[in-house]
Amino acid sequence: MNKKVLITGGAGFIGSHLADELLEKGYEVRVLDNLCEQVHGKNCNRPAFLNPEVELIVGDVRDPKKVKEALKDIDAVYHYAAMVGVGQSMYEIKEYTDVNNVGTAVLLEALSKNPVEKLVVASSMSIYGEGLYKDAEGNIKAGLERKLDQLKRGDWEIYDAKGNVLTPYPTPETKTPSLSSVYALSKYDQERMCLLIGKAYNIPTVALRFFNVFGTRQSLSNPYTGVLAIFASRLLNDNPVLIFEDGNQMRDFVHVSDIAQASRLAMETGAAGEVFNVGSGNAYTINEIAGKLSEILNKEYIVPEISGKYRVGDIRHCFADISKVKTILGYEPKVSLAGGLIELAEWLEGQTAEDKVSEASNELAVRGLTV
Ligand code: UD1
Repeated sequence: MNKKVLITGGAGFIGSHLADELLEKGYEVRVLDNLCEQVHGKNCNRPAFLNPEVELIVGDVRDPKKVKEALKDIDAVYHYAAMVGVGQSMYEIKEYTDVNNVGTAVLLEALSKNPVEKLVVASSMSIYGEGLYKDAEGNIKAGLERKLDQLKRGDWEIYDAKGNVLTPYPTPETKTPSLSSVYALSKYDQERMCLLIGKAYNIPTVALRFFNVFGTRQSLSNPYTGVLAIFASRLLNDNPVLIFEDGNQMRDFVHVSDIAQASRLAMETGAAGEVFNVGSGNAYTINEIAGKLSEILNKEYIVPEISGKYRVGDIRHCFADISKVKTILGYEPKVSLAGGLIELAEWLEGQTAEDKVSEASNELAVRGLTV
């Protein structure tokens, strides 16, 4: 008989792509998702992109009854339900803690009574805080942070003790976490809680630390979503993209189908009690991302707005060392940034985006969360 897999948050961006990947490989897929308005819009309908073969249970991961129902006859669980905005987490503190931390606790209590063969939890690169850096002599530096007064002066980089700018360096799983937002804290909590309850109840558990995921289906009307979807929403409405700091901060953009690939491998291989980075292994600046997207959408005439402001909770640079996930899970990223952007542009042609970015920026500004 086919294995039956539950994806919490499976009607969303990453979960729905994972559902496609698993269905294609012959698994049965059930999704528990609350179809929350911020992501799915006012009507909270089943999204058209969700594979028709997915069995959808509409419900909240904090609701023990729904979770119990969703776990019936399930062999493996992906816990991908979460609130995902770094900036928003700095003022919706209770909601983020409730959905992410308490939601995980409810799921784990249910799993402790009905263990499954595998649990995979979506963790995040944001738990690292700043990535690793290298000094001029080639020494690796960790645990560095920017000071608020430096950021207020518009001085964005990370320095060594002698005042030299450090060069960012790929970050492996061994880097000590440094939590700089409520979101990051909640992701670390989800990761640790799953790993320790997994160990206690003999549920083989893997945490995947996703880097900056992009691709089709990322909500275009959610102003707290990832930067590429936000930029797409701005450009589709002929508005300039808003860039924090100077736009030279670097991230690792990984295509959602590669995230789906790594997720499937995490279930199919024997790995347990482990954390893995899942990125592309490449780094781009936010300015480069903005430029490439404008070009592909033929919106180069819209000049980006560089705010020169710091979004509280943000880090300067972080990109993945993916050697562990390649070696142990056999993961190999397949979609380049260029290829992924072409696909994204084709999908965007059929989409409308409600641009709520100005309101969201205001929410941060009035609370002093952009400085
Ligand atoms: C993102 C994800 C987070 C995930 C993490 C993993 C979202 C909302 N956040 O966080 O869930 O765990 O990746 O790496 O999907 N920026 C702008 N202008 C904007 C929006 C963002 O300049 O309008 C900048 C930010 O200041 C930041 C960079 O773009 O420097 C990336 O921001 P964002 O897409 O929010 O990603 P992360 O904070 O890295």
